Amino acid sequence: MKLWGGRFKKSESKLMEDFNSSLGFDRRLYKEDIEGSMAHVKMLSKCGILTQEEVRSILEGLKSILKDIESGKLKVEGDYEDIHSFVEINLIDRIGQVAKKLHTARSRNDQVAVDFRLYVKKEAQEVVQSIEILQTAIKDLGERNNVIMPGYTHLQRAQVVTFKHYIMAYYSMLSRDKNRILNAVEIMDESPLGCCALAGTTYDIDRYFTAKELGFRKPVDNFLDGVSDRDYVLEMLSDFSILMMHLSRLSEELILWSSKEFDFVQIDDEFSTGSSIMPQKKNPDAAELIRGKTGRVYGSLMALLTTMKGIPLAYNKDMQEDKEQFFNSLDTILSCLKIMNGILSTLKVNKDNTFNAVKKGFLNATEAADYLVNKGMAFRDAHKVIGEIVLYCENKNKSIEDLQLEELKNFSTLFSEDVYEFIDYRNTLNRGIKKNLK
Ligand code: ARG
Repeated sequence: MKLWGGRFKKSESKLMEDFNSSLGFDRRLYKEDIEGSMAHVKMLSKCGILTQEEVRSILEGLKSILKDIESGKLKVEGDYEDIHSFVEINLIDRIGQVAKKLHTARSRNDQVAVDFRLYVKKEAQEVVQSIEILQTAIKDLGERNNVIMPGYTHLQRAQVVTFKHYIMAYYSMLSRDKNRILNAVEIMDESPLGCCALAGTTYDIDRYFTAKELGFRKPVDNFLDGVSDRDYVLEMLSDFSILMMHLSRLSEELILWSSKEFDFVQIDDEFSTGSSIMPQKKNPDAAELIRGKTGRVYGSLMALLTTMKGIPLAYNKDMQEDKEQFFNSLDTILSCLKIMNGILSTLKVNKDNTFNAVKKGFLNATEAADYLVNKGMAFRDAHKVIGEIVLYCENKNKSIEDLQLEELKNFSTLFSEDVYEFIDYRNTLNRGIKKNLK
């Protein structure tokens, strides 16, 4: 069933029909398509292009289609080219000939553009909400675990931090992810409805009316741009990619930390799986899947960038490819955010192990050097002295704070009793992270 055919002598091949059809995926746009059509006919009535009576019956028909789809009475499937044809042909079935007036002063090009913008805008809010839920889980996890742990550079133990401070780094990343998405929504917040096929229409329509009705800030400035731009999808996919990169790094940390080599955290049974051959194993599959699924989100971005890069203005059918990429990435992002929320809400931190790792890692060496600097030594010299002490400790299997004052004095006479308090891990934390965070 098609909305065109007058100029064709032969019918379309079944092969081509299947290849061309987008209903299998753009059915997700049914609500936006109906909302867009409602705004459009209200405008046509206001501008005197359709009569009030005609519009009343079209609106009723559209509402009944929406209701039946939502209740499951009407299945969005069948032999239709796309969601736009599905709605229009169903409307003709329901209300008869007057339904054919719905498409006055409109093209499927501006129709799909407005549907998809509405959908991306709406789902962006859904992603933002899921980010906020995950941020709350991160904050709670940090509050529950204000415990000492090693911080790393080059994956080598570097300085003392707290688990709370460590995990809150991801909170900050997610705040930026959220702002990036909200910013993209602000940029894309213009209505393409009324651009028609590519050059506007000879009817005296009111694009400001439909823009307002659909909740857009304003109509687009340029008709060709309005129907052929997909940069808002690309921007959202870029933002999703960055978000996935963050989730993937966090996943990698969880995978490392839950290994016996680190043993810093325990991922709850609810978010772990076992091995079919090795009975002792508990695998961090949830985190691994998030890390793995990052690939498909990057892939969507690359696929759509490539689709868009060579197509002339205005609409080209290539653009139909935008939807599956977006839907796939959106579903991936939403499920990954949910799963990460589950992992973190049930995560246990092994504070004895994080503390022992600090102790074994000479994580107060920098502060010990700072101690000598405070006593008048140049930092480079202090660096060398502490380096020698670390070597000495390694041979004796001790930490700096385990050495007697006499032993320390062999390396520098500037050491006195107050060194122990100065290099105490809690005190170094208080002087460093806590003080400078305020
Ligand atoms: N399914 C199409 C898409 O997603 C709808 C627009 C069709 N426009 C056209 N001129 N054939 O892009």
